[in-house]
Formats: sequence, C-alpha cells, structure tokens
Amino acid sequence: MNTPDNFEYLVQVVQELSLARSLDSITAIVRTAARKLTHADGATFVLLDNNKCYYADEDAIGPLWKGGRFPIESCISGWSMLNKQQVVIEDIYADNRIPHDLYEPTFVKSLAMTPIRKSDPIGAIGTYWATKRLPSANELTLLQSLADMTTVAIENVNLYLELENRVNQRTAELEEARKSLEAYTHSISHDLKAPVRSIRLLTDLLAERMLELNFRDVEVSNIMSRMLNRAEHMDALVAGLLNFARLRKYKLSCTHVPMRQLAEEVGRELIDHHPERTIHFSVGKDVPDAWGDALLIRQALQNLIGNAIKYTGKKDPAHIEIGCEVRDDFNQYSISDNGAGFNQAYADKLFETFHRLHSDKEFDGIGIGLSLTKQIINRHSGKIEATAKVNEGATFRFTLPTSPAVLTSLTNR
Ligand SMILES: Nc1ncnc2c1ncn2[C@@H]1O[C@H](COP(=O)(O)OP(=O)(O)OP(=O)(O)O)[C@@H](O)[C@H]1O
Ligand SMILES: [Mg+2]
Repeated sequence: MNTPDNFEYLVQVVQELSLARSLDSITAIVRTAARKLTHADGATFVLLDNNKCYYADEDAIGPLWKGGRFPIESCISGWSMLNKQQVVIEDIYADNRIPHDLYEPTFVKSLAMTPIRKSDPIGAIGTYWATKRLPSANELTLLQSLADMTTVAIENVNLYLELENRVNQRTAELEEARKSLEAYTHSISHDLKAPVRSIRLLTDLLAERMLELNFRDVEVSNIMSRMLNRAEHMDALVAGLLNFARLRKYKLSCTHVPMRQLAEEVGRELIDHHPERTIHFSVGKDVPDAWGDALLIRQALQNLIGNAIKYTGKKDPAHIEIGCEVRDDFNQYSISDNGAGFNQAYADKLFETFHRLHSDKEFDGIGIGLSLTKQIINRHSGKIEATAKVNEGATFRFTLPTSPAVLTSLTNR
C-alpha cells in the first residue's frame, strides 16, 4: 500500500524536481528519493552515455560504482534500458545477467532497476538491498513514477539549458555588434573631427579675407555666418559622439559629492554667459550629498541646468530651482524651470540620442546632452525622468545613491 507519507513525499519530490535547473540537482533529488520510497540500502542514478552506462551518482550505506562506466551489454542497468523494462532481482548471485565480480565488493544482495523514459531510455534508477528482498508492487510503481518524473525534469533542464545557451549566444552577438558599432562611431567621429575643424577655420579665414578686401555683401555675409553656424554645430555633434564613446569606457571614481555646492557652482558659471537675461536660480538649502563620480555628475548638472537656461530663453524672468527628495537608499534630485516645456507624451524620447522636441530655429542644440546625462545616471545605477507642460516649464528628476554600499548593491542587482 502507498502510505499517505509516501504520497506526500512524492508530491514534495515532484515540486523539487520541477525547480531543478541542472542535471546535478536532479540526480541528487532522485537518488535520495529512490532510496527513501523503497526503504533501500542504496540507490544509483545511471545515465546512458555513448552506449555506456554511466553511474553518475549514488546514495548508499557503502560504496557502489559512482563515476564508473560499463558497456550497456554487460550490466543490469544496460539490460533494463535495452529491454525497456523494470527488472527486479531477489538474489543477484543466482542471476547471470549480473556481473558478479563487480558486486562482490559491495553490500548488494538484491536490486530493482527502473529505466528512465521507458519508451526510449536515457538512463536508469537502481535501488539495492543488503538482504534478499523483493520490493512490493507499490514500491515498484513508485519507482516507475519517480523515473517518469525524472524524464520530465531532465527534458525541462535540457530545454532550460538550451534556452539559456541561446540567450547567452544572442547576448554575446549583441554585445559584439554594439562594440563594433561603438568602435565604428568612435573612428568616424575621430576622422570627422579634423575636417570639421578645418571647415570652421577656413570659413573664419574667408570672412576675415572678405573684410580685408572690403567686400561687403549682406547676402554673402549671411551665407557665411550660416556656414559657420552649421560647422560649429557639426563640431559639437562630433564632440558629443566622442564623449559618448569615452563615457562607456570611463571608470568611475566615486566620492561624496557635495551636490548643493556643485549645483551652485555649475549654475553660476552657466548663468554668467547670459548677462543680458534675468535668471532667478536657487538651490535648496537641504540638498544633500550624493555618492558618485564628481566629474560625471558635474557634466550631468551642466547638461540639465544648461537646458533649463536654454529652454527658458524666452521667459523673463526665468526661474530655475534645484531641489531634492531623500528616499531610503538614494536621493532624488530635481531641476525645475518655467521655460518652454514640452508635450509630456514624448517625455521618454528626450533621452534618445539626437532626439529633439524643439527646432533649431526655436532653440539651438544637438540633441545629445540628455542621452549623455541618462548614461551618466545609469552608470550610477540611478534613474532619470522628465515631466513638463508646453509653455509652462519642465522638471527633470534623477536619482543617485547615498553611499558606496548602496551603489555596490544596486550595481550587482
Ligand atoms: N528644460 C527643458 N525644457 C524643455 N525642453 C527640454 C528641456 N530639456 C530638454 N528639452 C528637450 O529635450 C531635447 C533633448 O535635450 P538634449 O539636452 O539632449 O539636447 P539639446 O539641448 O537639444 O542639445 P544639446 O545636445 O546641445 O544639449 C531638447 O531638444 C528639448 O526639445
Ligand atoms: Mg541640452
């Protein structure tokens, strides 16, 4: 009879097998379960490997054949697999299918061998007793059920491993593609740097020469200034792309970053470039320190405060406020302005490289500042987001860790 205990135990084994993610864990579960379900003195987990029976694992009162490989024709697990049936031997020394010399050093007197995947065996579960014993019909049924569940578990693990392999392979391919694209971008940007600078210089020279020659033509000087403007734009674009490549390779050097002081400094420097404008700039007194790379965080603040200054260009006076909300493990800093704002529906697009929500005519720009900023925040395991309303201003919020421990734990997550 199957006792309720056995039944409960079998259910537990099914659960364990369904969670197994490697052949090793399956063998460990099965050898223990086989022994327990049949009150055996030993159990082995045998796998068919190139026409050999490989005794992969065992759990027994004395050593059996763990690690051994025997030809399929000369051992009882092989017999069970070749004949696709369970075999019970009450007295192993009275049965000529048993290689007696291999059993003599062991405690085994009787055994049952159960094939795994009966229709096309891939292995077998051996159970052994130190006395002459015939397992009951129920014990044999339990063993066969265990073998059937093992089949499913092995197939699951194989599928899982295949999937994992495929994912790893795809990830490696993607990483390879990303690297070559990055190298390509880097080399193109590098190659473009010199000619773009030359165009700028030559246009400058041409303008000077025209002045010297007293050549004054409104249309020509208009074209010249547009040429210069475009060349400067391209120069900034190339510099931005190079910055990107540099940032990926850059190794963070983290310290406590005095955010309040840094934001004040960056804001004042940038505002000094606009003496003609009225910009009310304030940094909250309680803006706390962050933990990160001061150089990169300065760059992120330059981009965000720079944007706030730029996109409030048509507001008089402009208001720019830096604040912070302290959360459990990180601080959420914010930069709000009362500028042009944008349509909230496109808020995620802003962080894509070269994506701009305003035309060059309205506000000049390359469209790289925010994607660089996002990458800087990502390197600190932080997040950045934007909210805005057209014509009413925008708020950018980003998070930074508060301590080295938080940064490490976020990075490893
Ligand atoms: N404070 C802001 N208010 C309104 N729109 C903004 C603000 N900051 C960014 N944007 C929008 O997001 C877009 C992307 O910003 P990003 O800083 O990446 O590029 P940019 O300012 O256009 O050029 P640059 O690369 O020179 O910084 C901008 O073109 C603008 O449309
Ligand atoms: Mg910008």
